Amino acid sequence: MTQPPSKGYDRQWLAAADQRYLWHPFTQMKEWMKEPPLIIAAAEGSYLIDIDGNRYLDGVSSLWVNIHGHRRKEIDEAIKEQIDRVSHTTLLGLSSIPSILLAKELVERAPPGLAKVFFSDNGSTAVEIGLKIAFQYWHNLEAGRSARRRFVAFRNAYHGDTLGAVSVGGIDTFHEIYRPLLIETFKVEYPYCYRCSRGRRYPACSLACTAELEEVLKNHGHEIAAVVVEPLVQCAAGILTAPPGFLEAVATLCKKHDVLLIADEVAVGFGRTGKMFAVEHEGVCPDILALAKGITGGYLPLAATLVTERIFDAFLADYAEMKAFFHGHSYTGNPLACAAGLASLRVFDEDRTLERLGAKIARLGERLEEFRHLGHVGDVRQKGFIAGIELVQDKEHKKPYPTASRIGHRVIMAARRKGLILRPLGDVIVIMPPLSIAGEELDRLLDIVYTSIVEVTESGRGVGS
Ligand SMILES: Cc1ncc(COP(=O)(O)O)c(C=O)c1O
Repeated sequence: MTQPPSKGYDRQWLAAADQRYLWHPFTQMKEWMKEPPLIIAAAEGSYLIDIDGNRYLDGVSSLWVNIHGHRRKEIDEAIKEQIDRVSHTTLLGLSSIPSILLAKELVERAPPGLAKVFFSDNGSTAVEIGLKIAFQYWHNLEAGRSARRRFVAFRNAYHGDTLGAVSVGGIDTFHEIYRPLLIETFKVEYPYCYRCSRGRRYPACSLACTAELEEVLKNHGHEIAAVVVEPLVQCAAGILTAPPGFLEAVATLCKKHDVLLIADEVAVGFGRTGKMFAVEHEGVCPDILALAKGITGGYLPLAATLVTERIFDAFLADYAEMKAFFHGHSYTGNPLACAAGLASLRVFDEDRTLERLGAKIARLGERLEEFRHLGHVGDVRQKGFIAGIELVQDKEHKKPYPTASRIGHRVIMAARRKGLILRPLGDVIVIMPPLSIAGEELDRLLDIVYTSIVEVTESGRGVGS
C-alpha cells in the first residue's frame, strides 16, 4: 500500500461532514444517518481500503465499472501523462488526440457495422443520445414527416436516470413516480425464467416471451424509432439472464420490421460476459451501441454511443438543412478519460484479459452450484463474470421475503463485516468482481457470500426483523 489512507483526516469529523453535506444516490438518507458511513480512502488491485486501513474485496467492481483492478500502473500512468499535456479540451469545434485514438480503437473492436463514435460521460447519456439519434435518423430520412416517435423497451429494464433513459426503463420502484414526465413507450416482456410469466420452461417454451415484441412491431412498426435492449442480462433488474437465442430473436424481429436496435451494453460491455461485447455471443450487430462504465477500466466518467454508417449518413447535409445532431456535453470526449480508455484496452491485450477470464468464469460457475442447495436460495443466475443469487423466504413456492425485512441488505452488511463489499438489488446478491481478480480472491469472495447468506437466512431472524 502506498500511503496511510487516513493521512491528514479524522474519521469522525469526515463521517459527521458526510452526514451533514452529502446526499447519496439511490439512498434513503434517513436510514443513512443511523450509522457512520464506511469511508473508502484508497484501493489496490481487487481491494478497497477504508480510512482506518481495513481492506475489503471489491465484489461489485465499484458499481460494475472496474475491470483490471484498482491502481493499475498502466492506467495510472496514462492519466498522469495526459495531465502533463492537457486535462480537458472540448470536442465542440476542436479535436483531441486521445479522443481520436479511442474512437478508432472502439470502432475496430466493436461488432461489425458500427462506424462512428459519439462521446459523452455516463451510461444514461450514452442511452439518451442513442434515443435522440434514432429519433432524428427517421426525422432526417423522411424530411420531418416521420411518424416514428416511439420506442419499444422491456419490462424491468434499466437504462439510467435521465428522463429519456427513465422513459425506456421498466423498474417501478425507480421509474413509476416520473411517469407523467416521460416519453410514452411500448413495454414488452423480457425473460425472467425463474418466474416466467407464462409458467413455461426453456427451451420447451421456444422463447414464447418474444411474442409480445413481435405483436407490437407488427401493429406499430411504422410508429417506432427503435427497440432498446440490455443484451443477455438485465443487470439492475436483479441479474435477469436471458436464455440463448433471445437477443438474436429480438434482432431478427427488428430487421424484419425495419426498426433500429439499440444495444445498451453499459453494464455488460468490456468483457463482463466473457466476450468484449455481449452481442457477440449471438452474432448480433446493433444499429446503435451504448457503452460506459468499464470503458475507462473503471477510472473516469466516459461513455460512447456507436452508430452505423447508414445512421451517420442520414445526418449529413448542407448546414441550412438543419440535419446536424445538436447535442453535446461540456466534458464530451474528455482527454483524461479517453487516455484511461486507451490504456484499459491496451491492458486487455497485454494481459490477455478475455482469454484468461474463461477459467475464472468456469470456477465461478462451479462454486455457484454450492449455493443452489441453501434453504433460502431460490435461483442462481450467471452470465460470464456476472452473477446474481436470488434469496426467497419460501423456496418451494418462490415466495419473496417481505420488503421490510431487507434481507439482501442484511446479507451484504454481514459480508462487509467479513471484508467484502457488495451492493444487492433488493434480495438478489450481485457478484461482479473486477475481471482481474485472482483465483484465491474469487474463492474467498464466494466463501464470504456463502457464510453471510447462511448467517442471515438461517439465523431464525430472517423475516420481518
Ligand atoms: C444497462 C445500463 N444502462 C445504463 C446505465 C446508467 O449508467 P450511469 O449510471 O453511468 O448513468 C446503467 C447503470 O447501471 C445500466 O446498468
